[in-house]
Amino acid sequence: MKSVARIIAAAILLTGGAALAEVEATNPTVIAWKNLMKQNGGAAKTLGDMAAGKAAFDAAAAEAAKQKLIEDAGQIPAAFKDQAEDPASEAKPEIWANWDDFTAKAAALGKAAEALDSSSLDGIKAGMGDIGGACKACHSSYKS
Ligand code: HEC
Repeated sequence: MKSVARIIAAAILLTGGAALAEVEATNPTVIAWKNLMKQNGGAAKTLGDMAAGKAAFDAAAAEAAKQKLIEDAGQIPAAFKDQAEDPASEAKPEIWANWDDFTAKAAALGKAAEALDSSSLDGIKAGMGDIGGACKACHSSYKS
């Protein structure tokens, strides 16, 4: 009996989790900044996959991902300028209470991306730590 109850509990948790993940943002401001972050995620994944050996090193793709990260980092302040709320948003209100720090963290991502040497696999491996650190520094303060 106990195990059946556990399976049911797990099933409920799973469906609950799936339902939660399906919540899509409807606020246009939130949709826009989430899209910007998804692009950040895509560019970081391109570089991360190369660094981890999951994808072959490709200097042109690495340089494009680097430029994308620089561009996206530059767009973060404008994307988050106006506070907006949405049930699907994980953006913390602390962003707007600590705006200078938030934009400094966006600028730090831009700097880390600029510093990346995209011309060699070793360069990517060496630079990814700072880029990932810049993502994490902002997320740990401003993303729930
Ligand atoms: C200056 C702050 C800041 C920086 C730097 C930053 N992010 Fe984010 N990111 C956020 C915030 C805030 C959210 C939550 C947005 C929401 O849910 O409304 C977020 C959400 C995300 C999401 C989830 C998007 C979604 O669909 O809900 C991804 C993926 C992401 N970031 C990737 C990255 C990556 C990769 C980097 C680094 C290359 C990065 N971010 C750098 C602030 C930042």
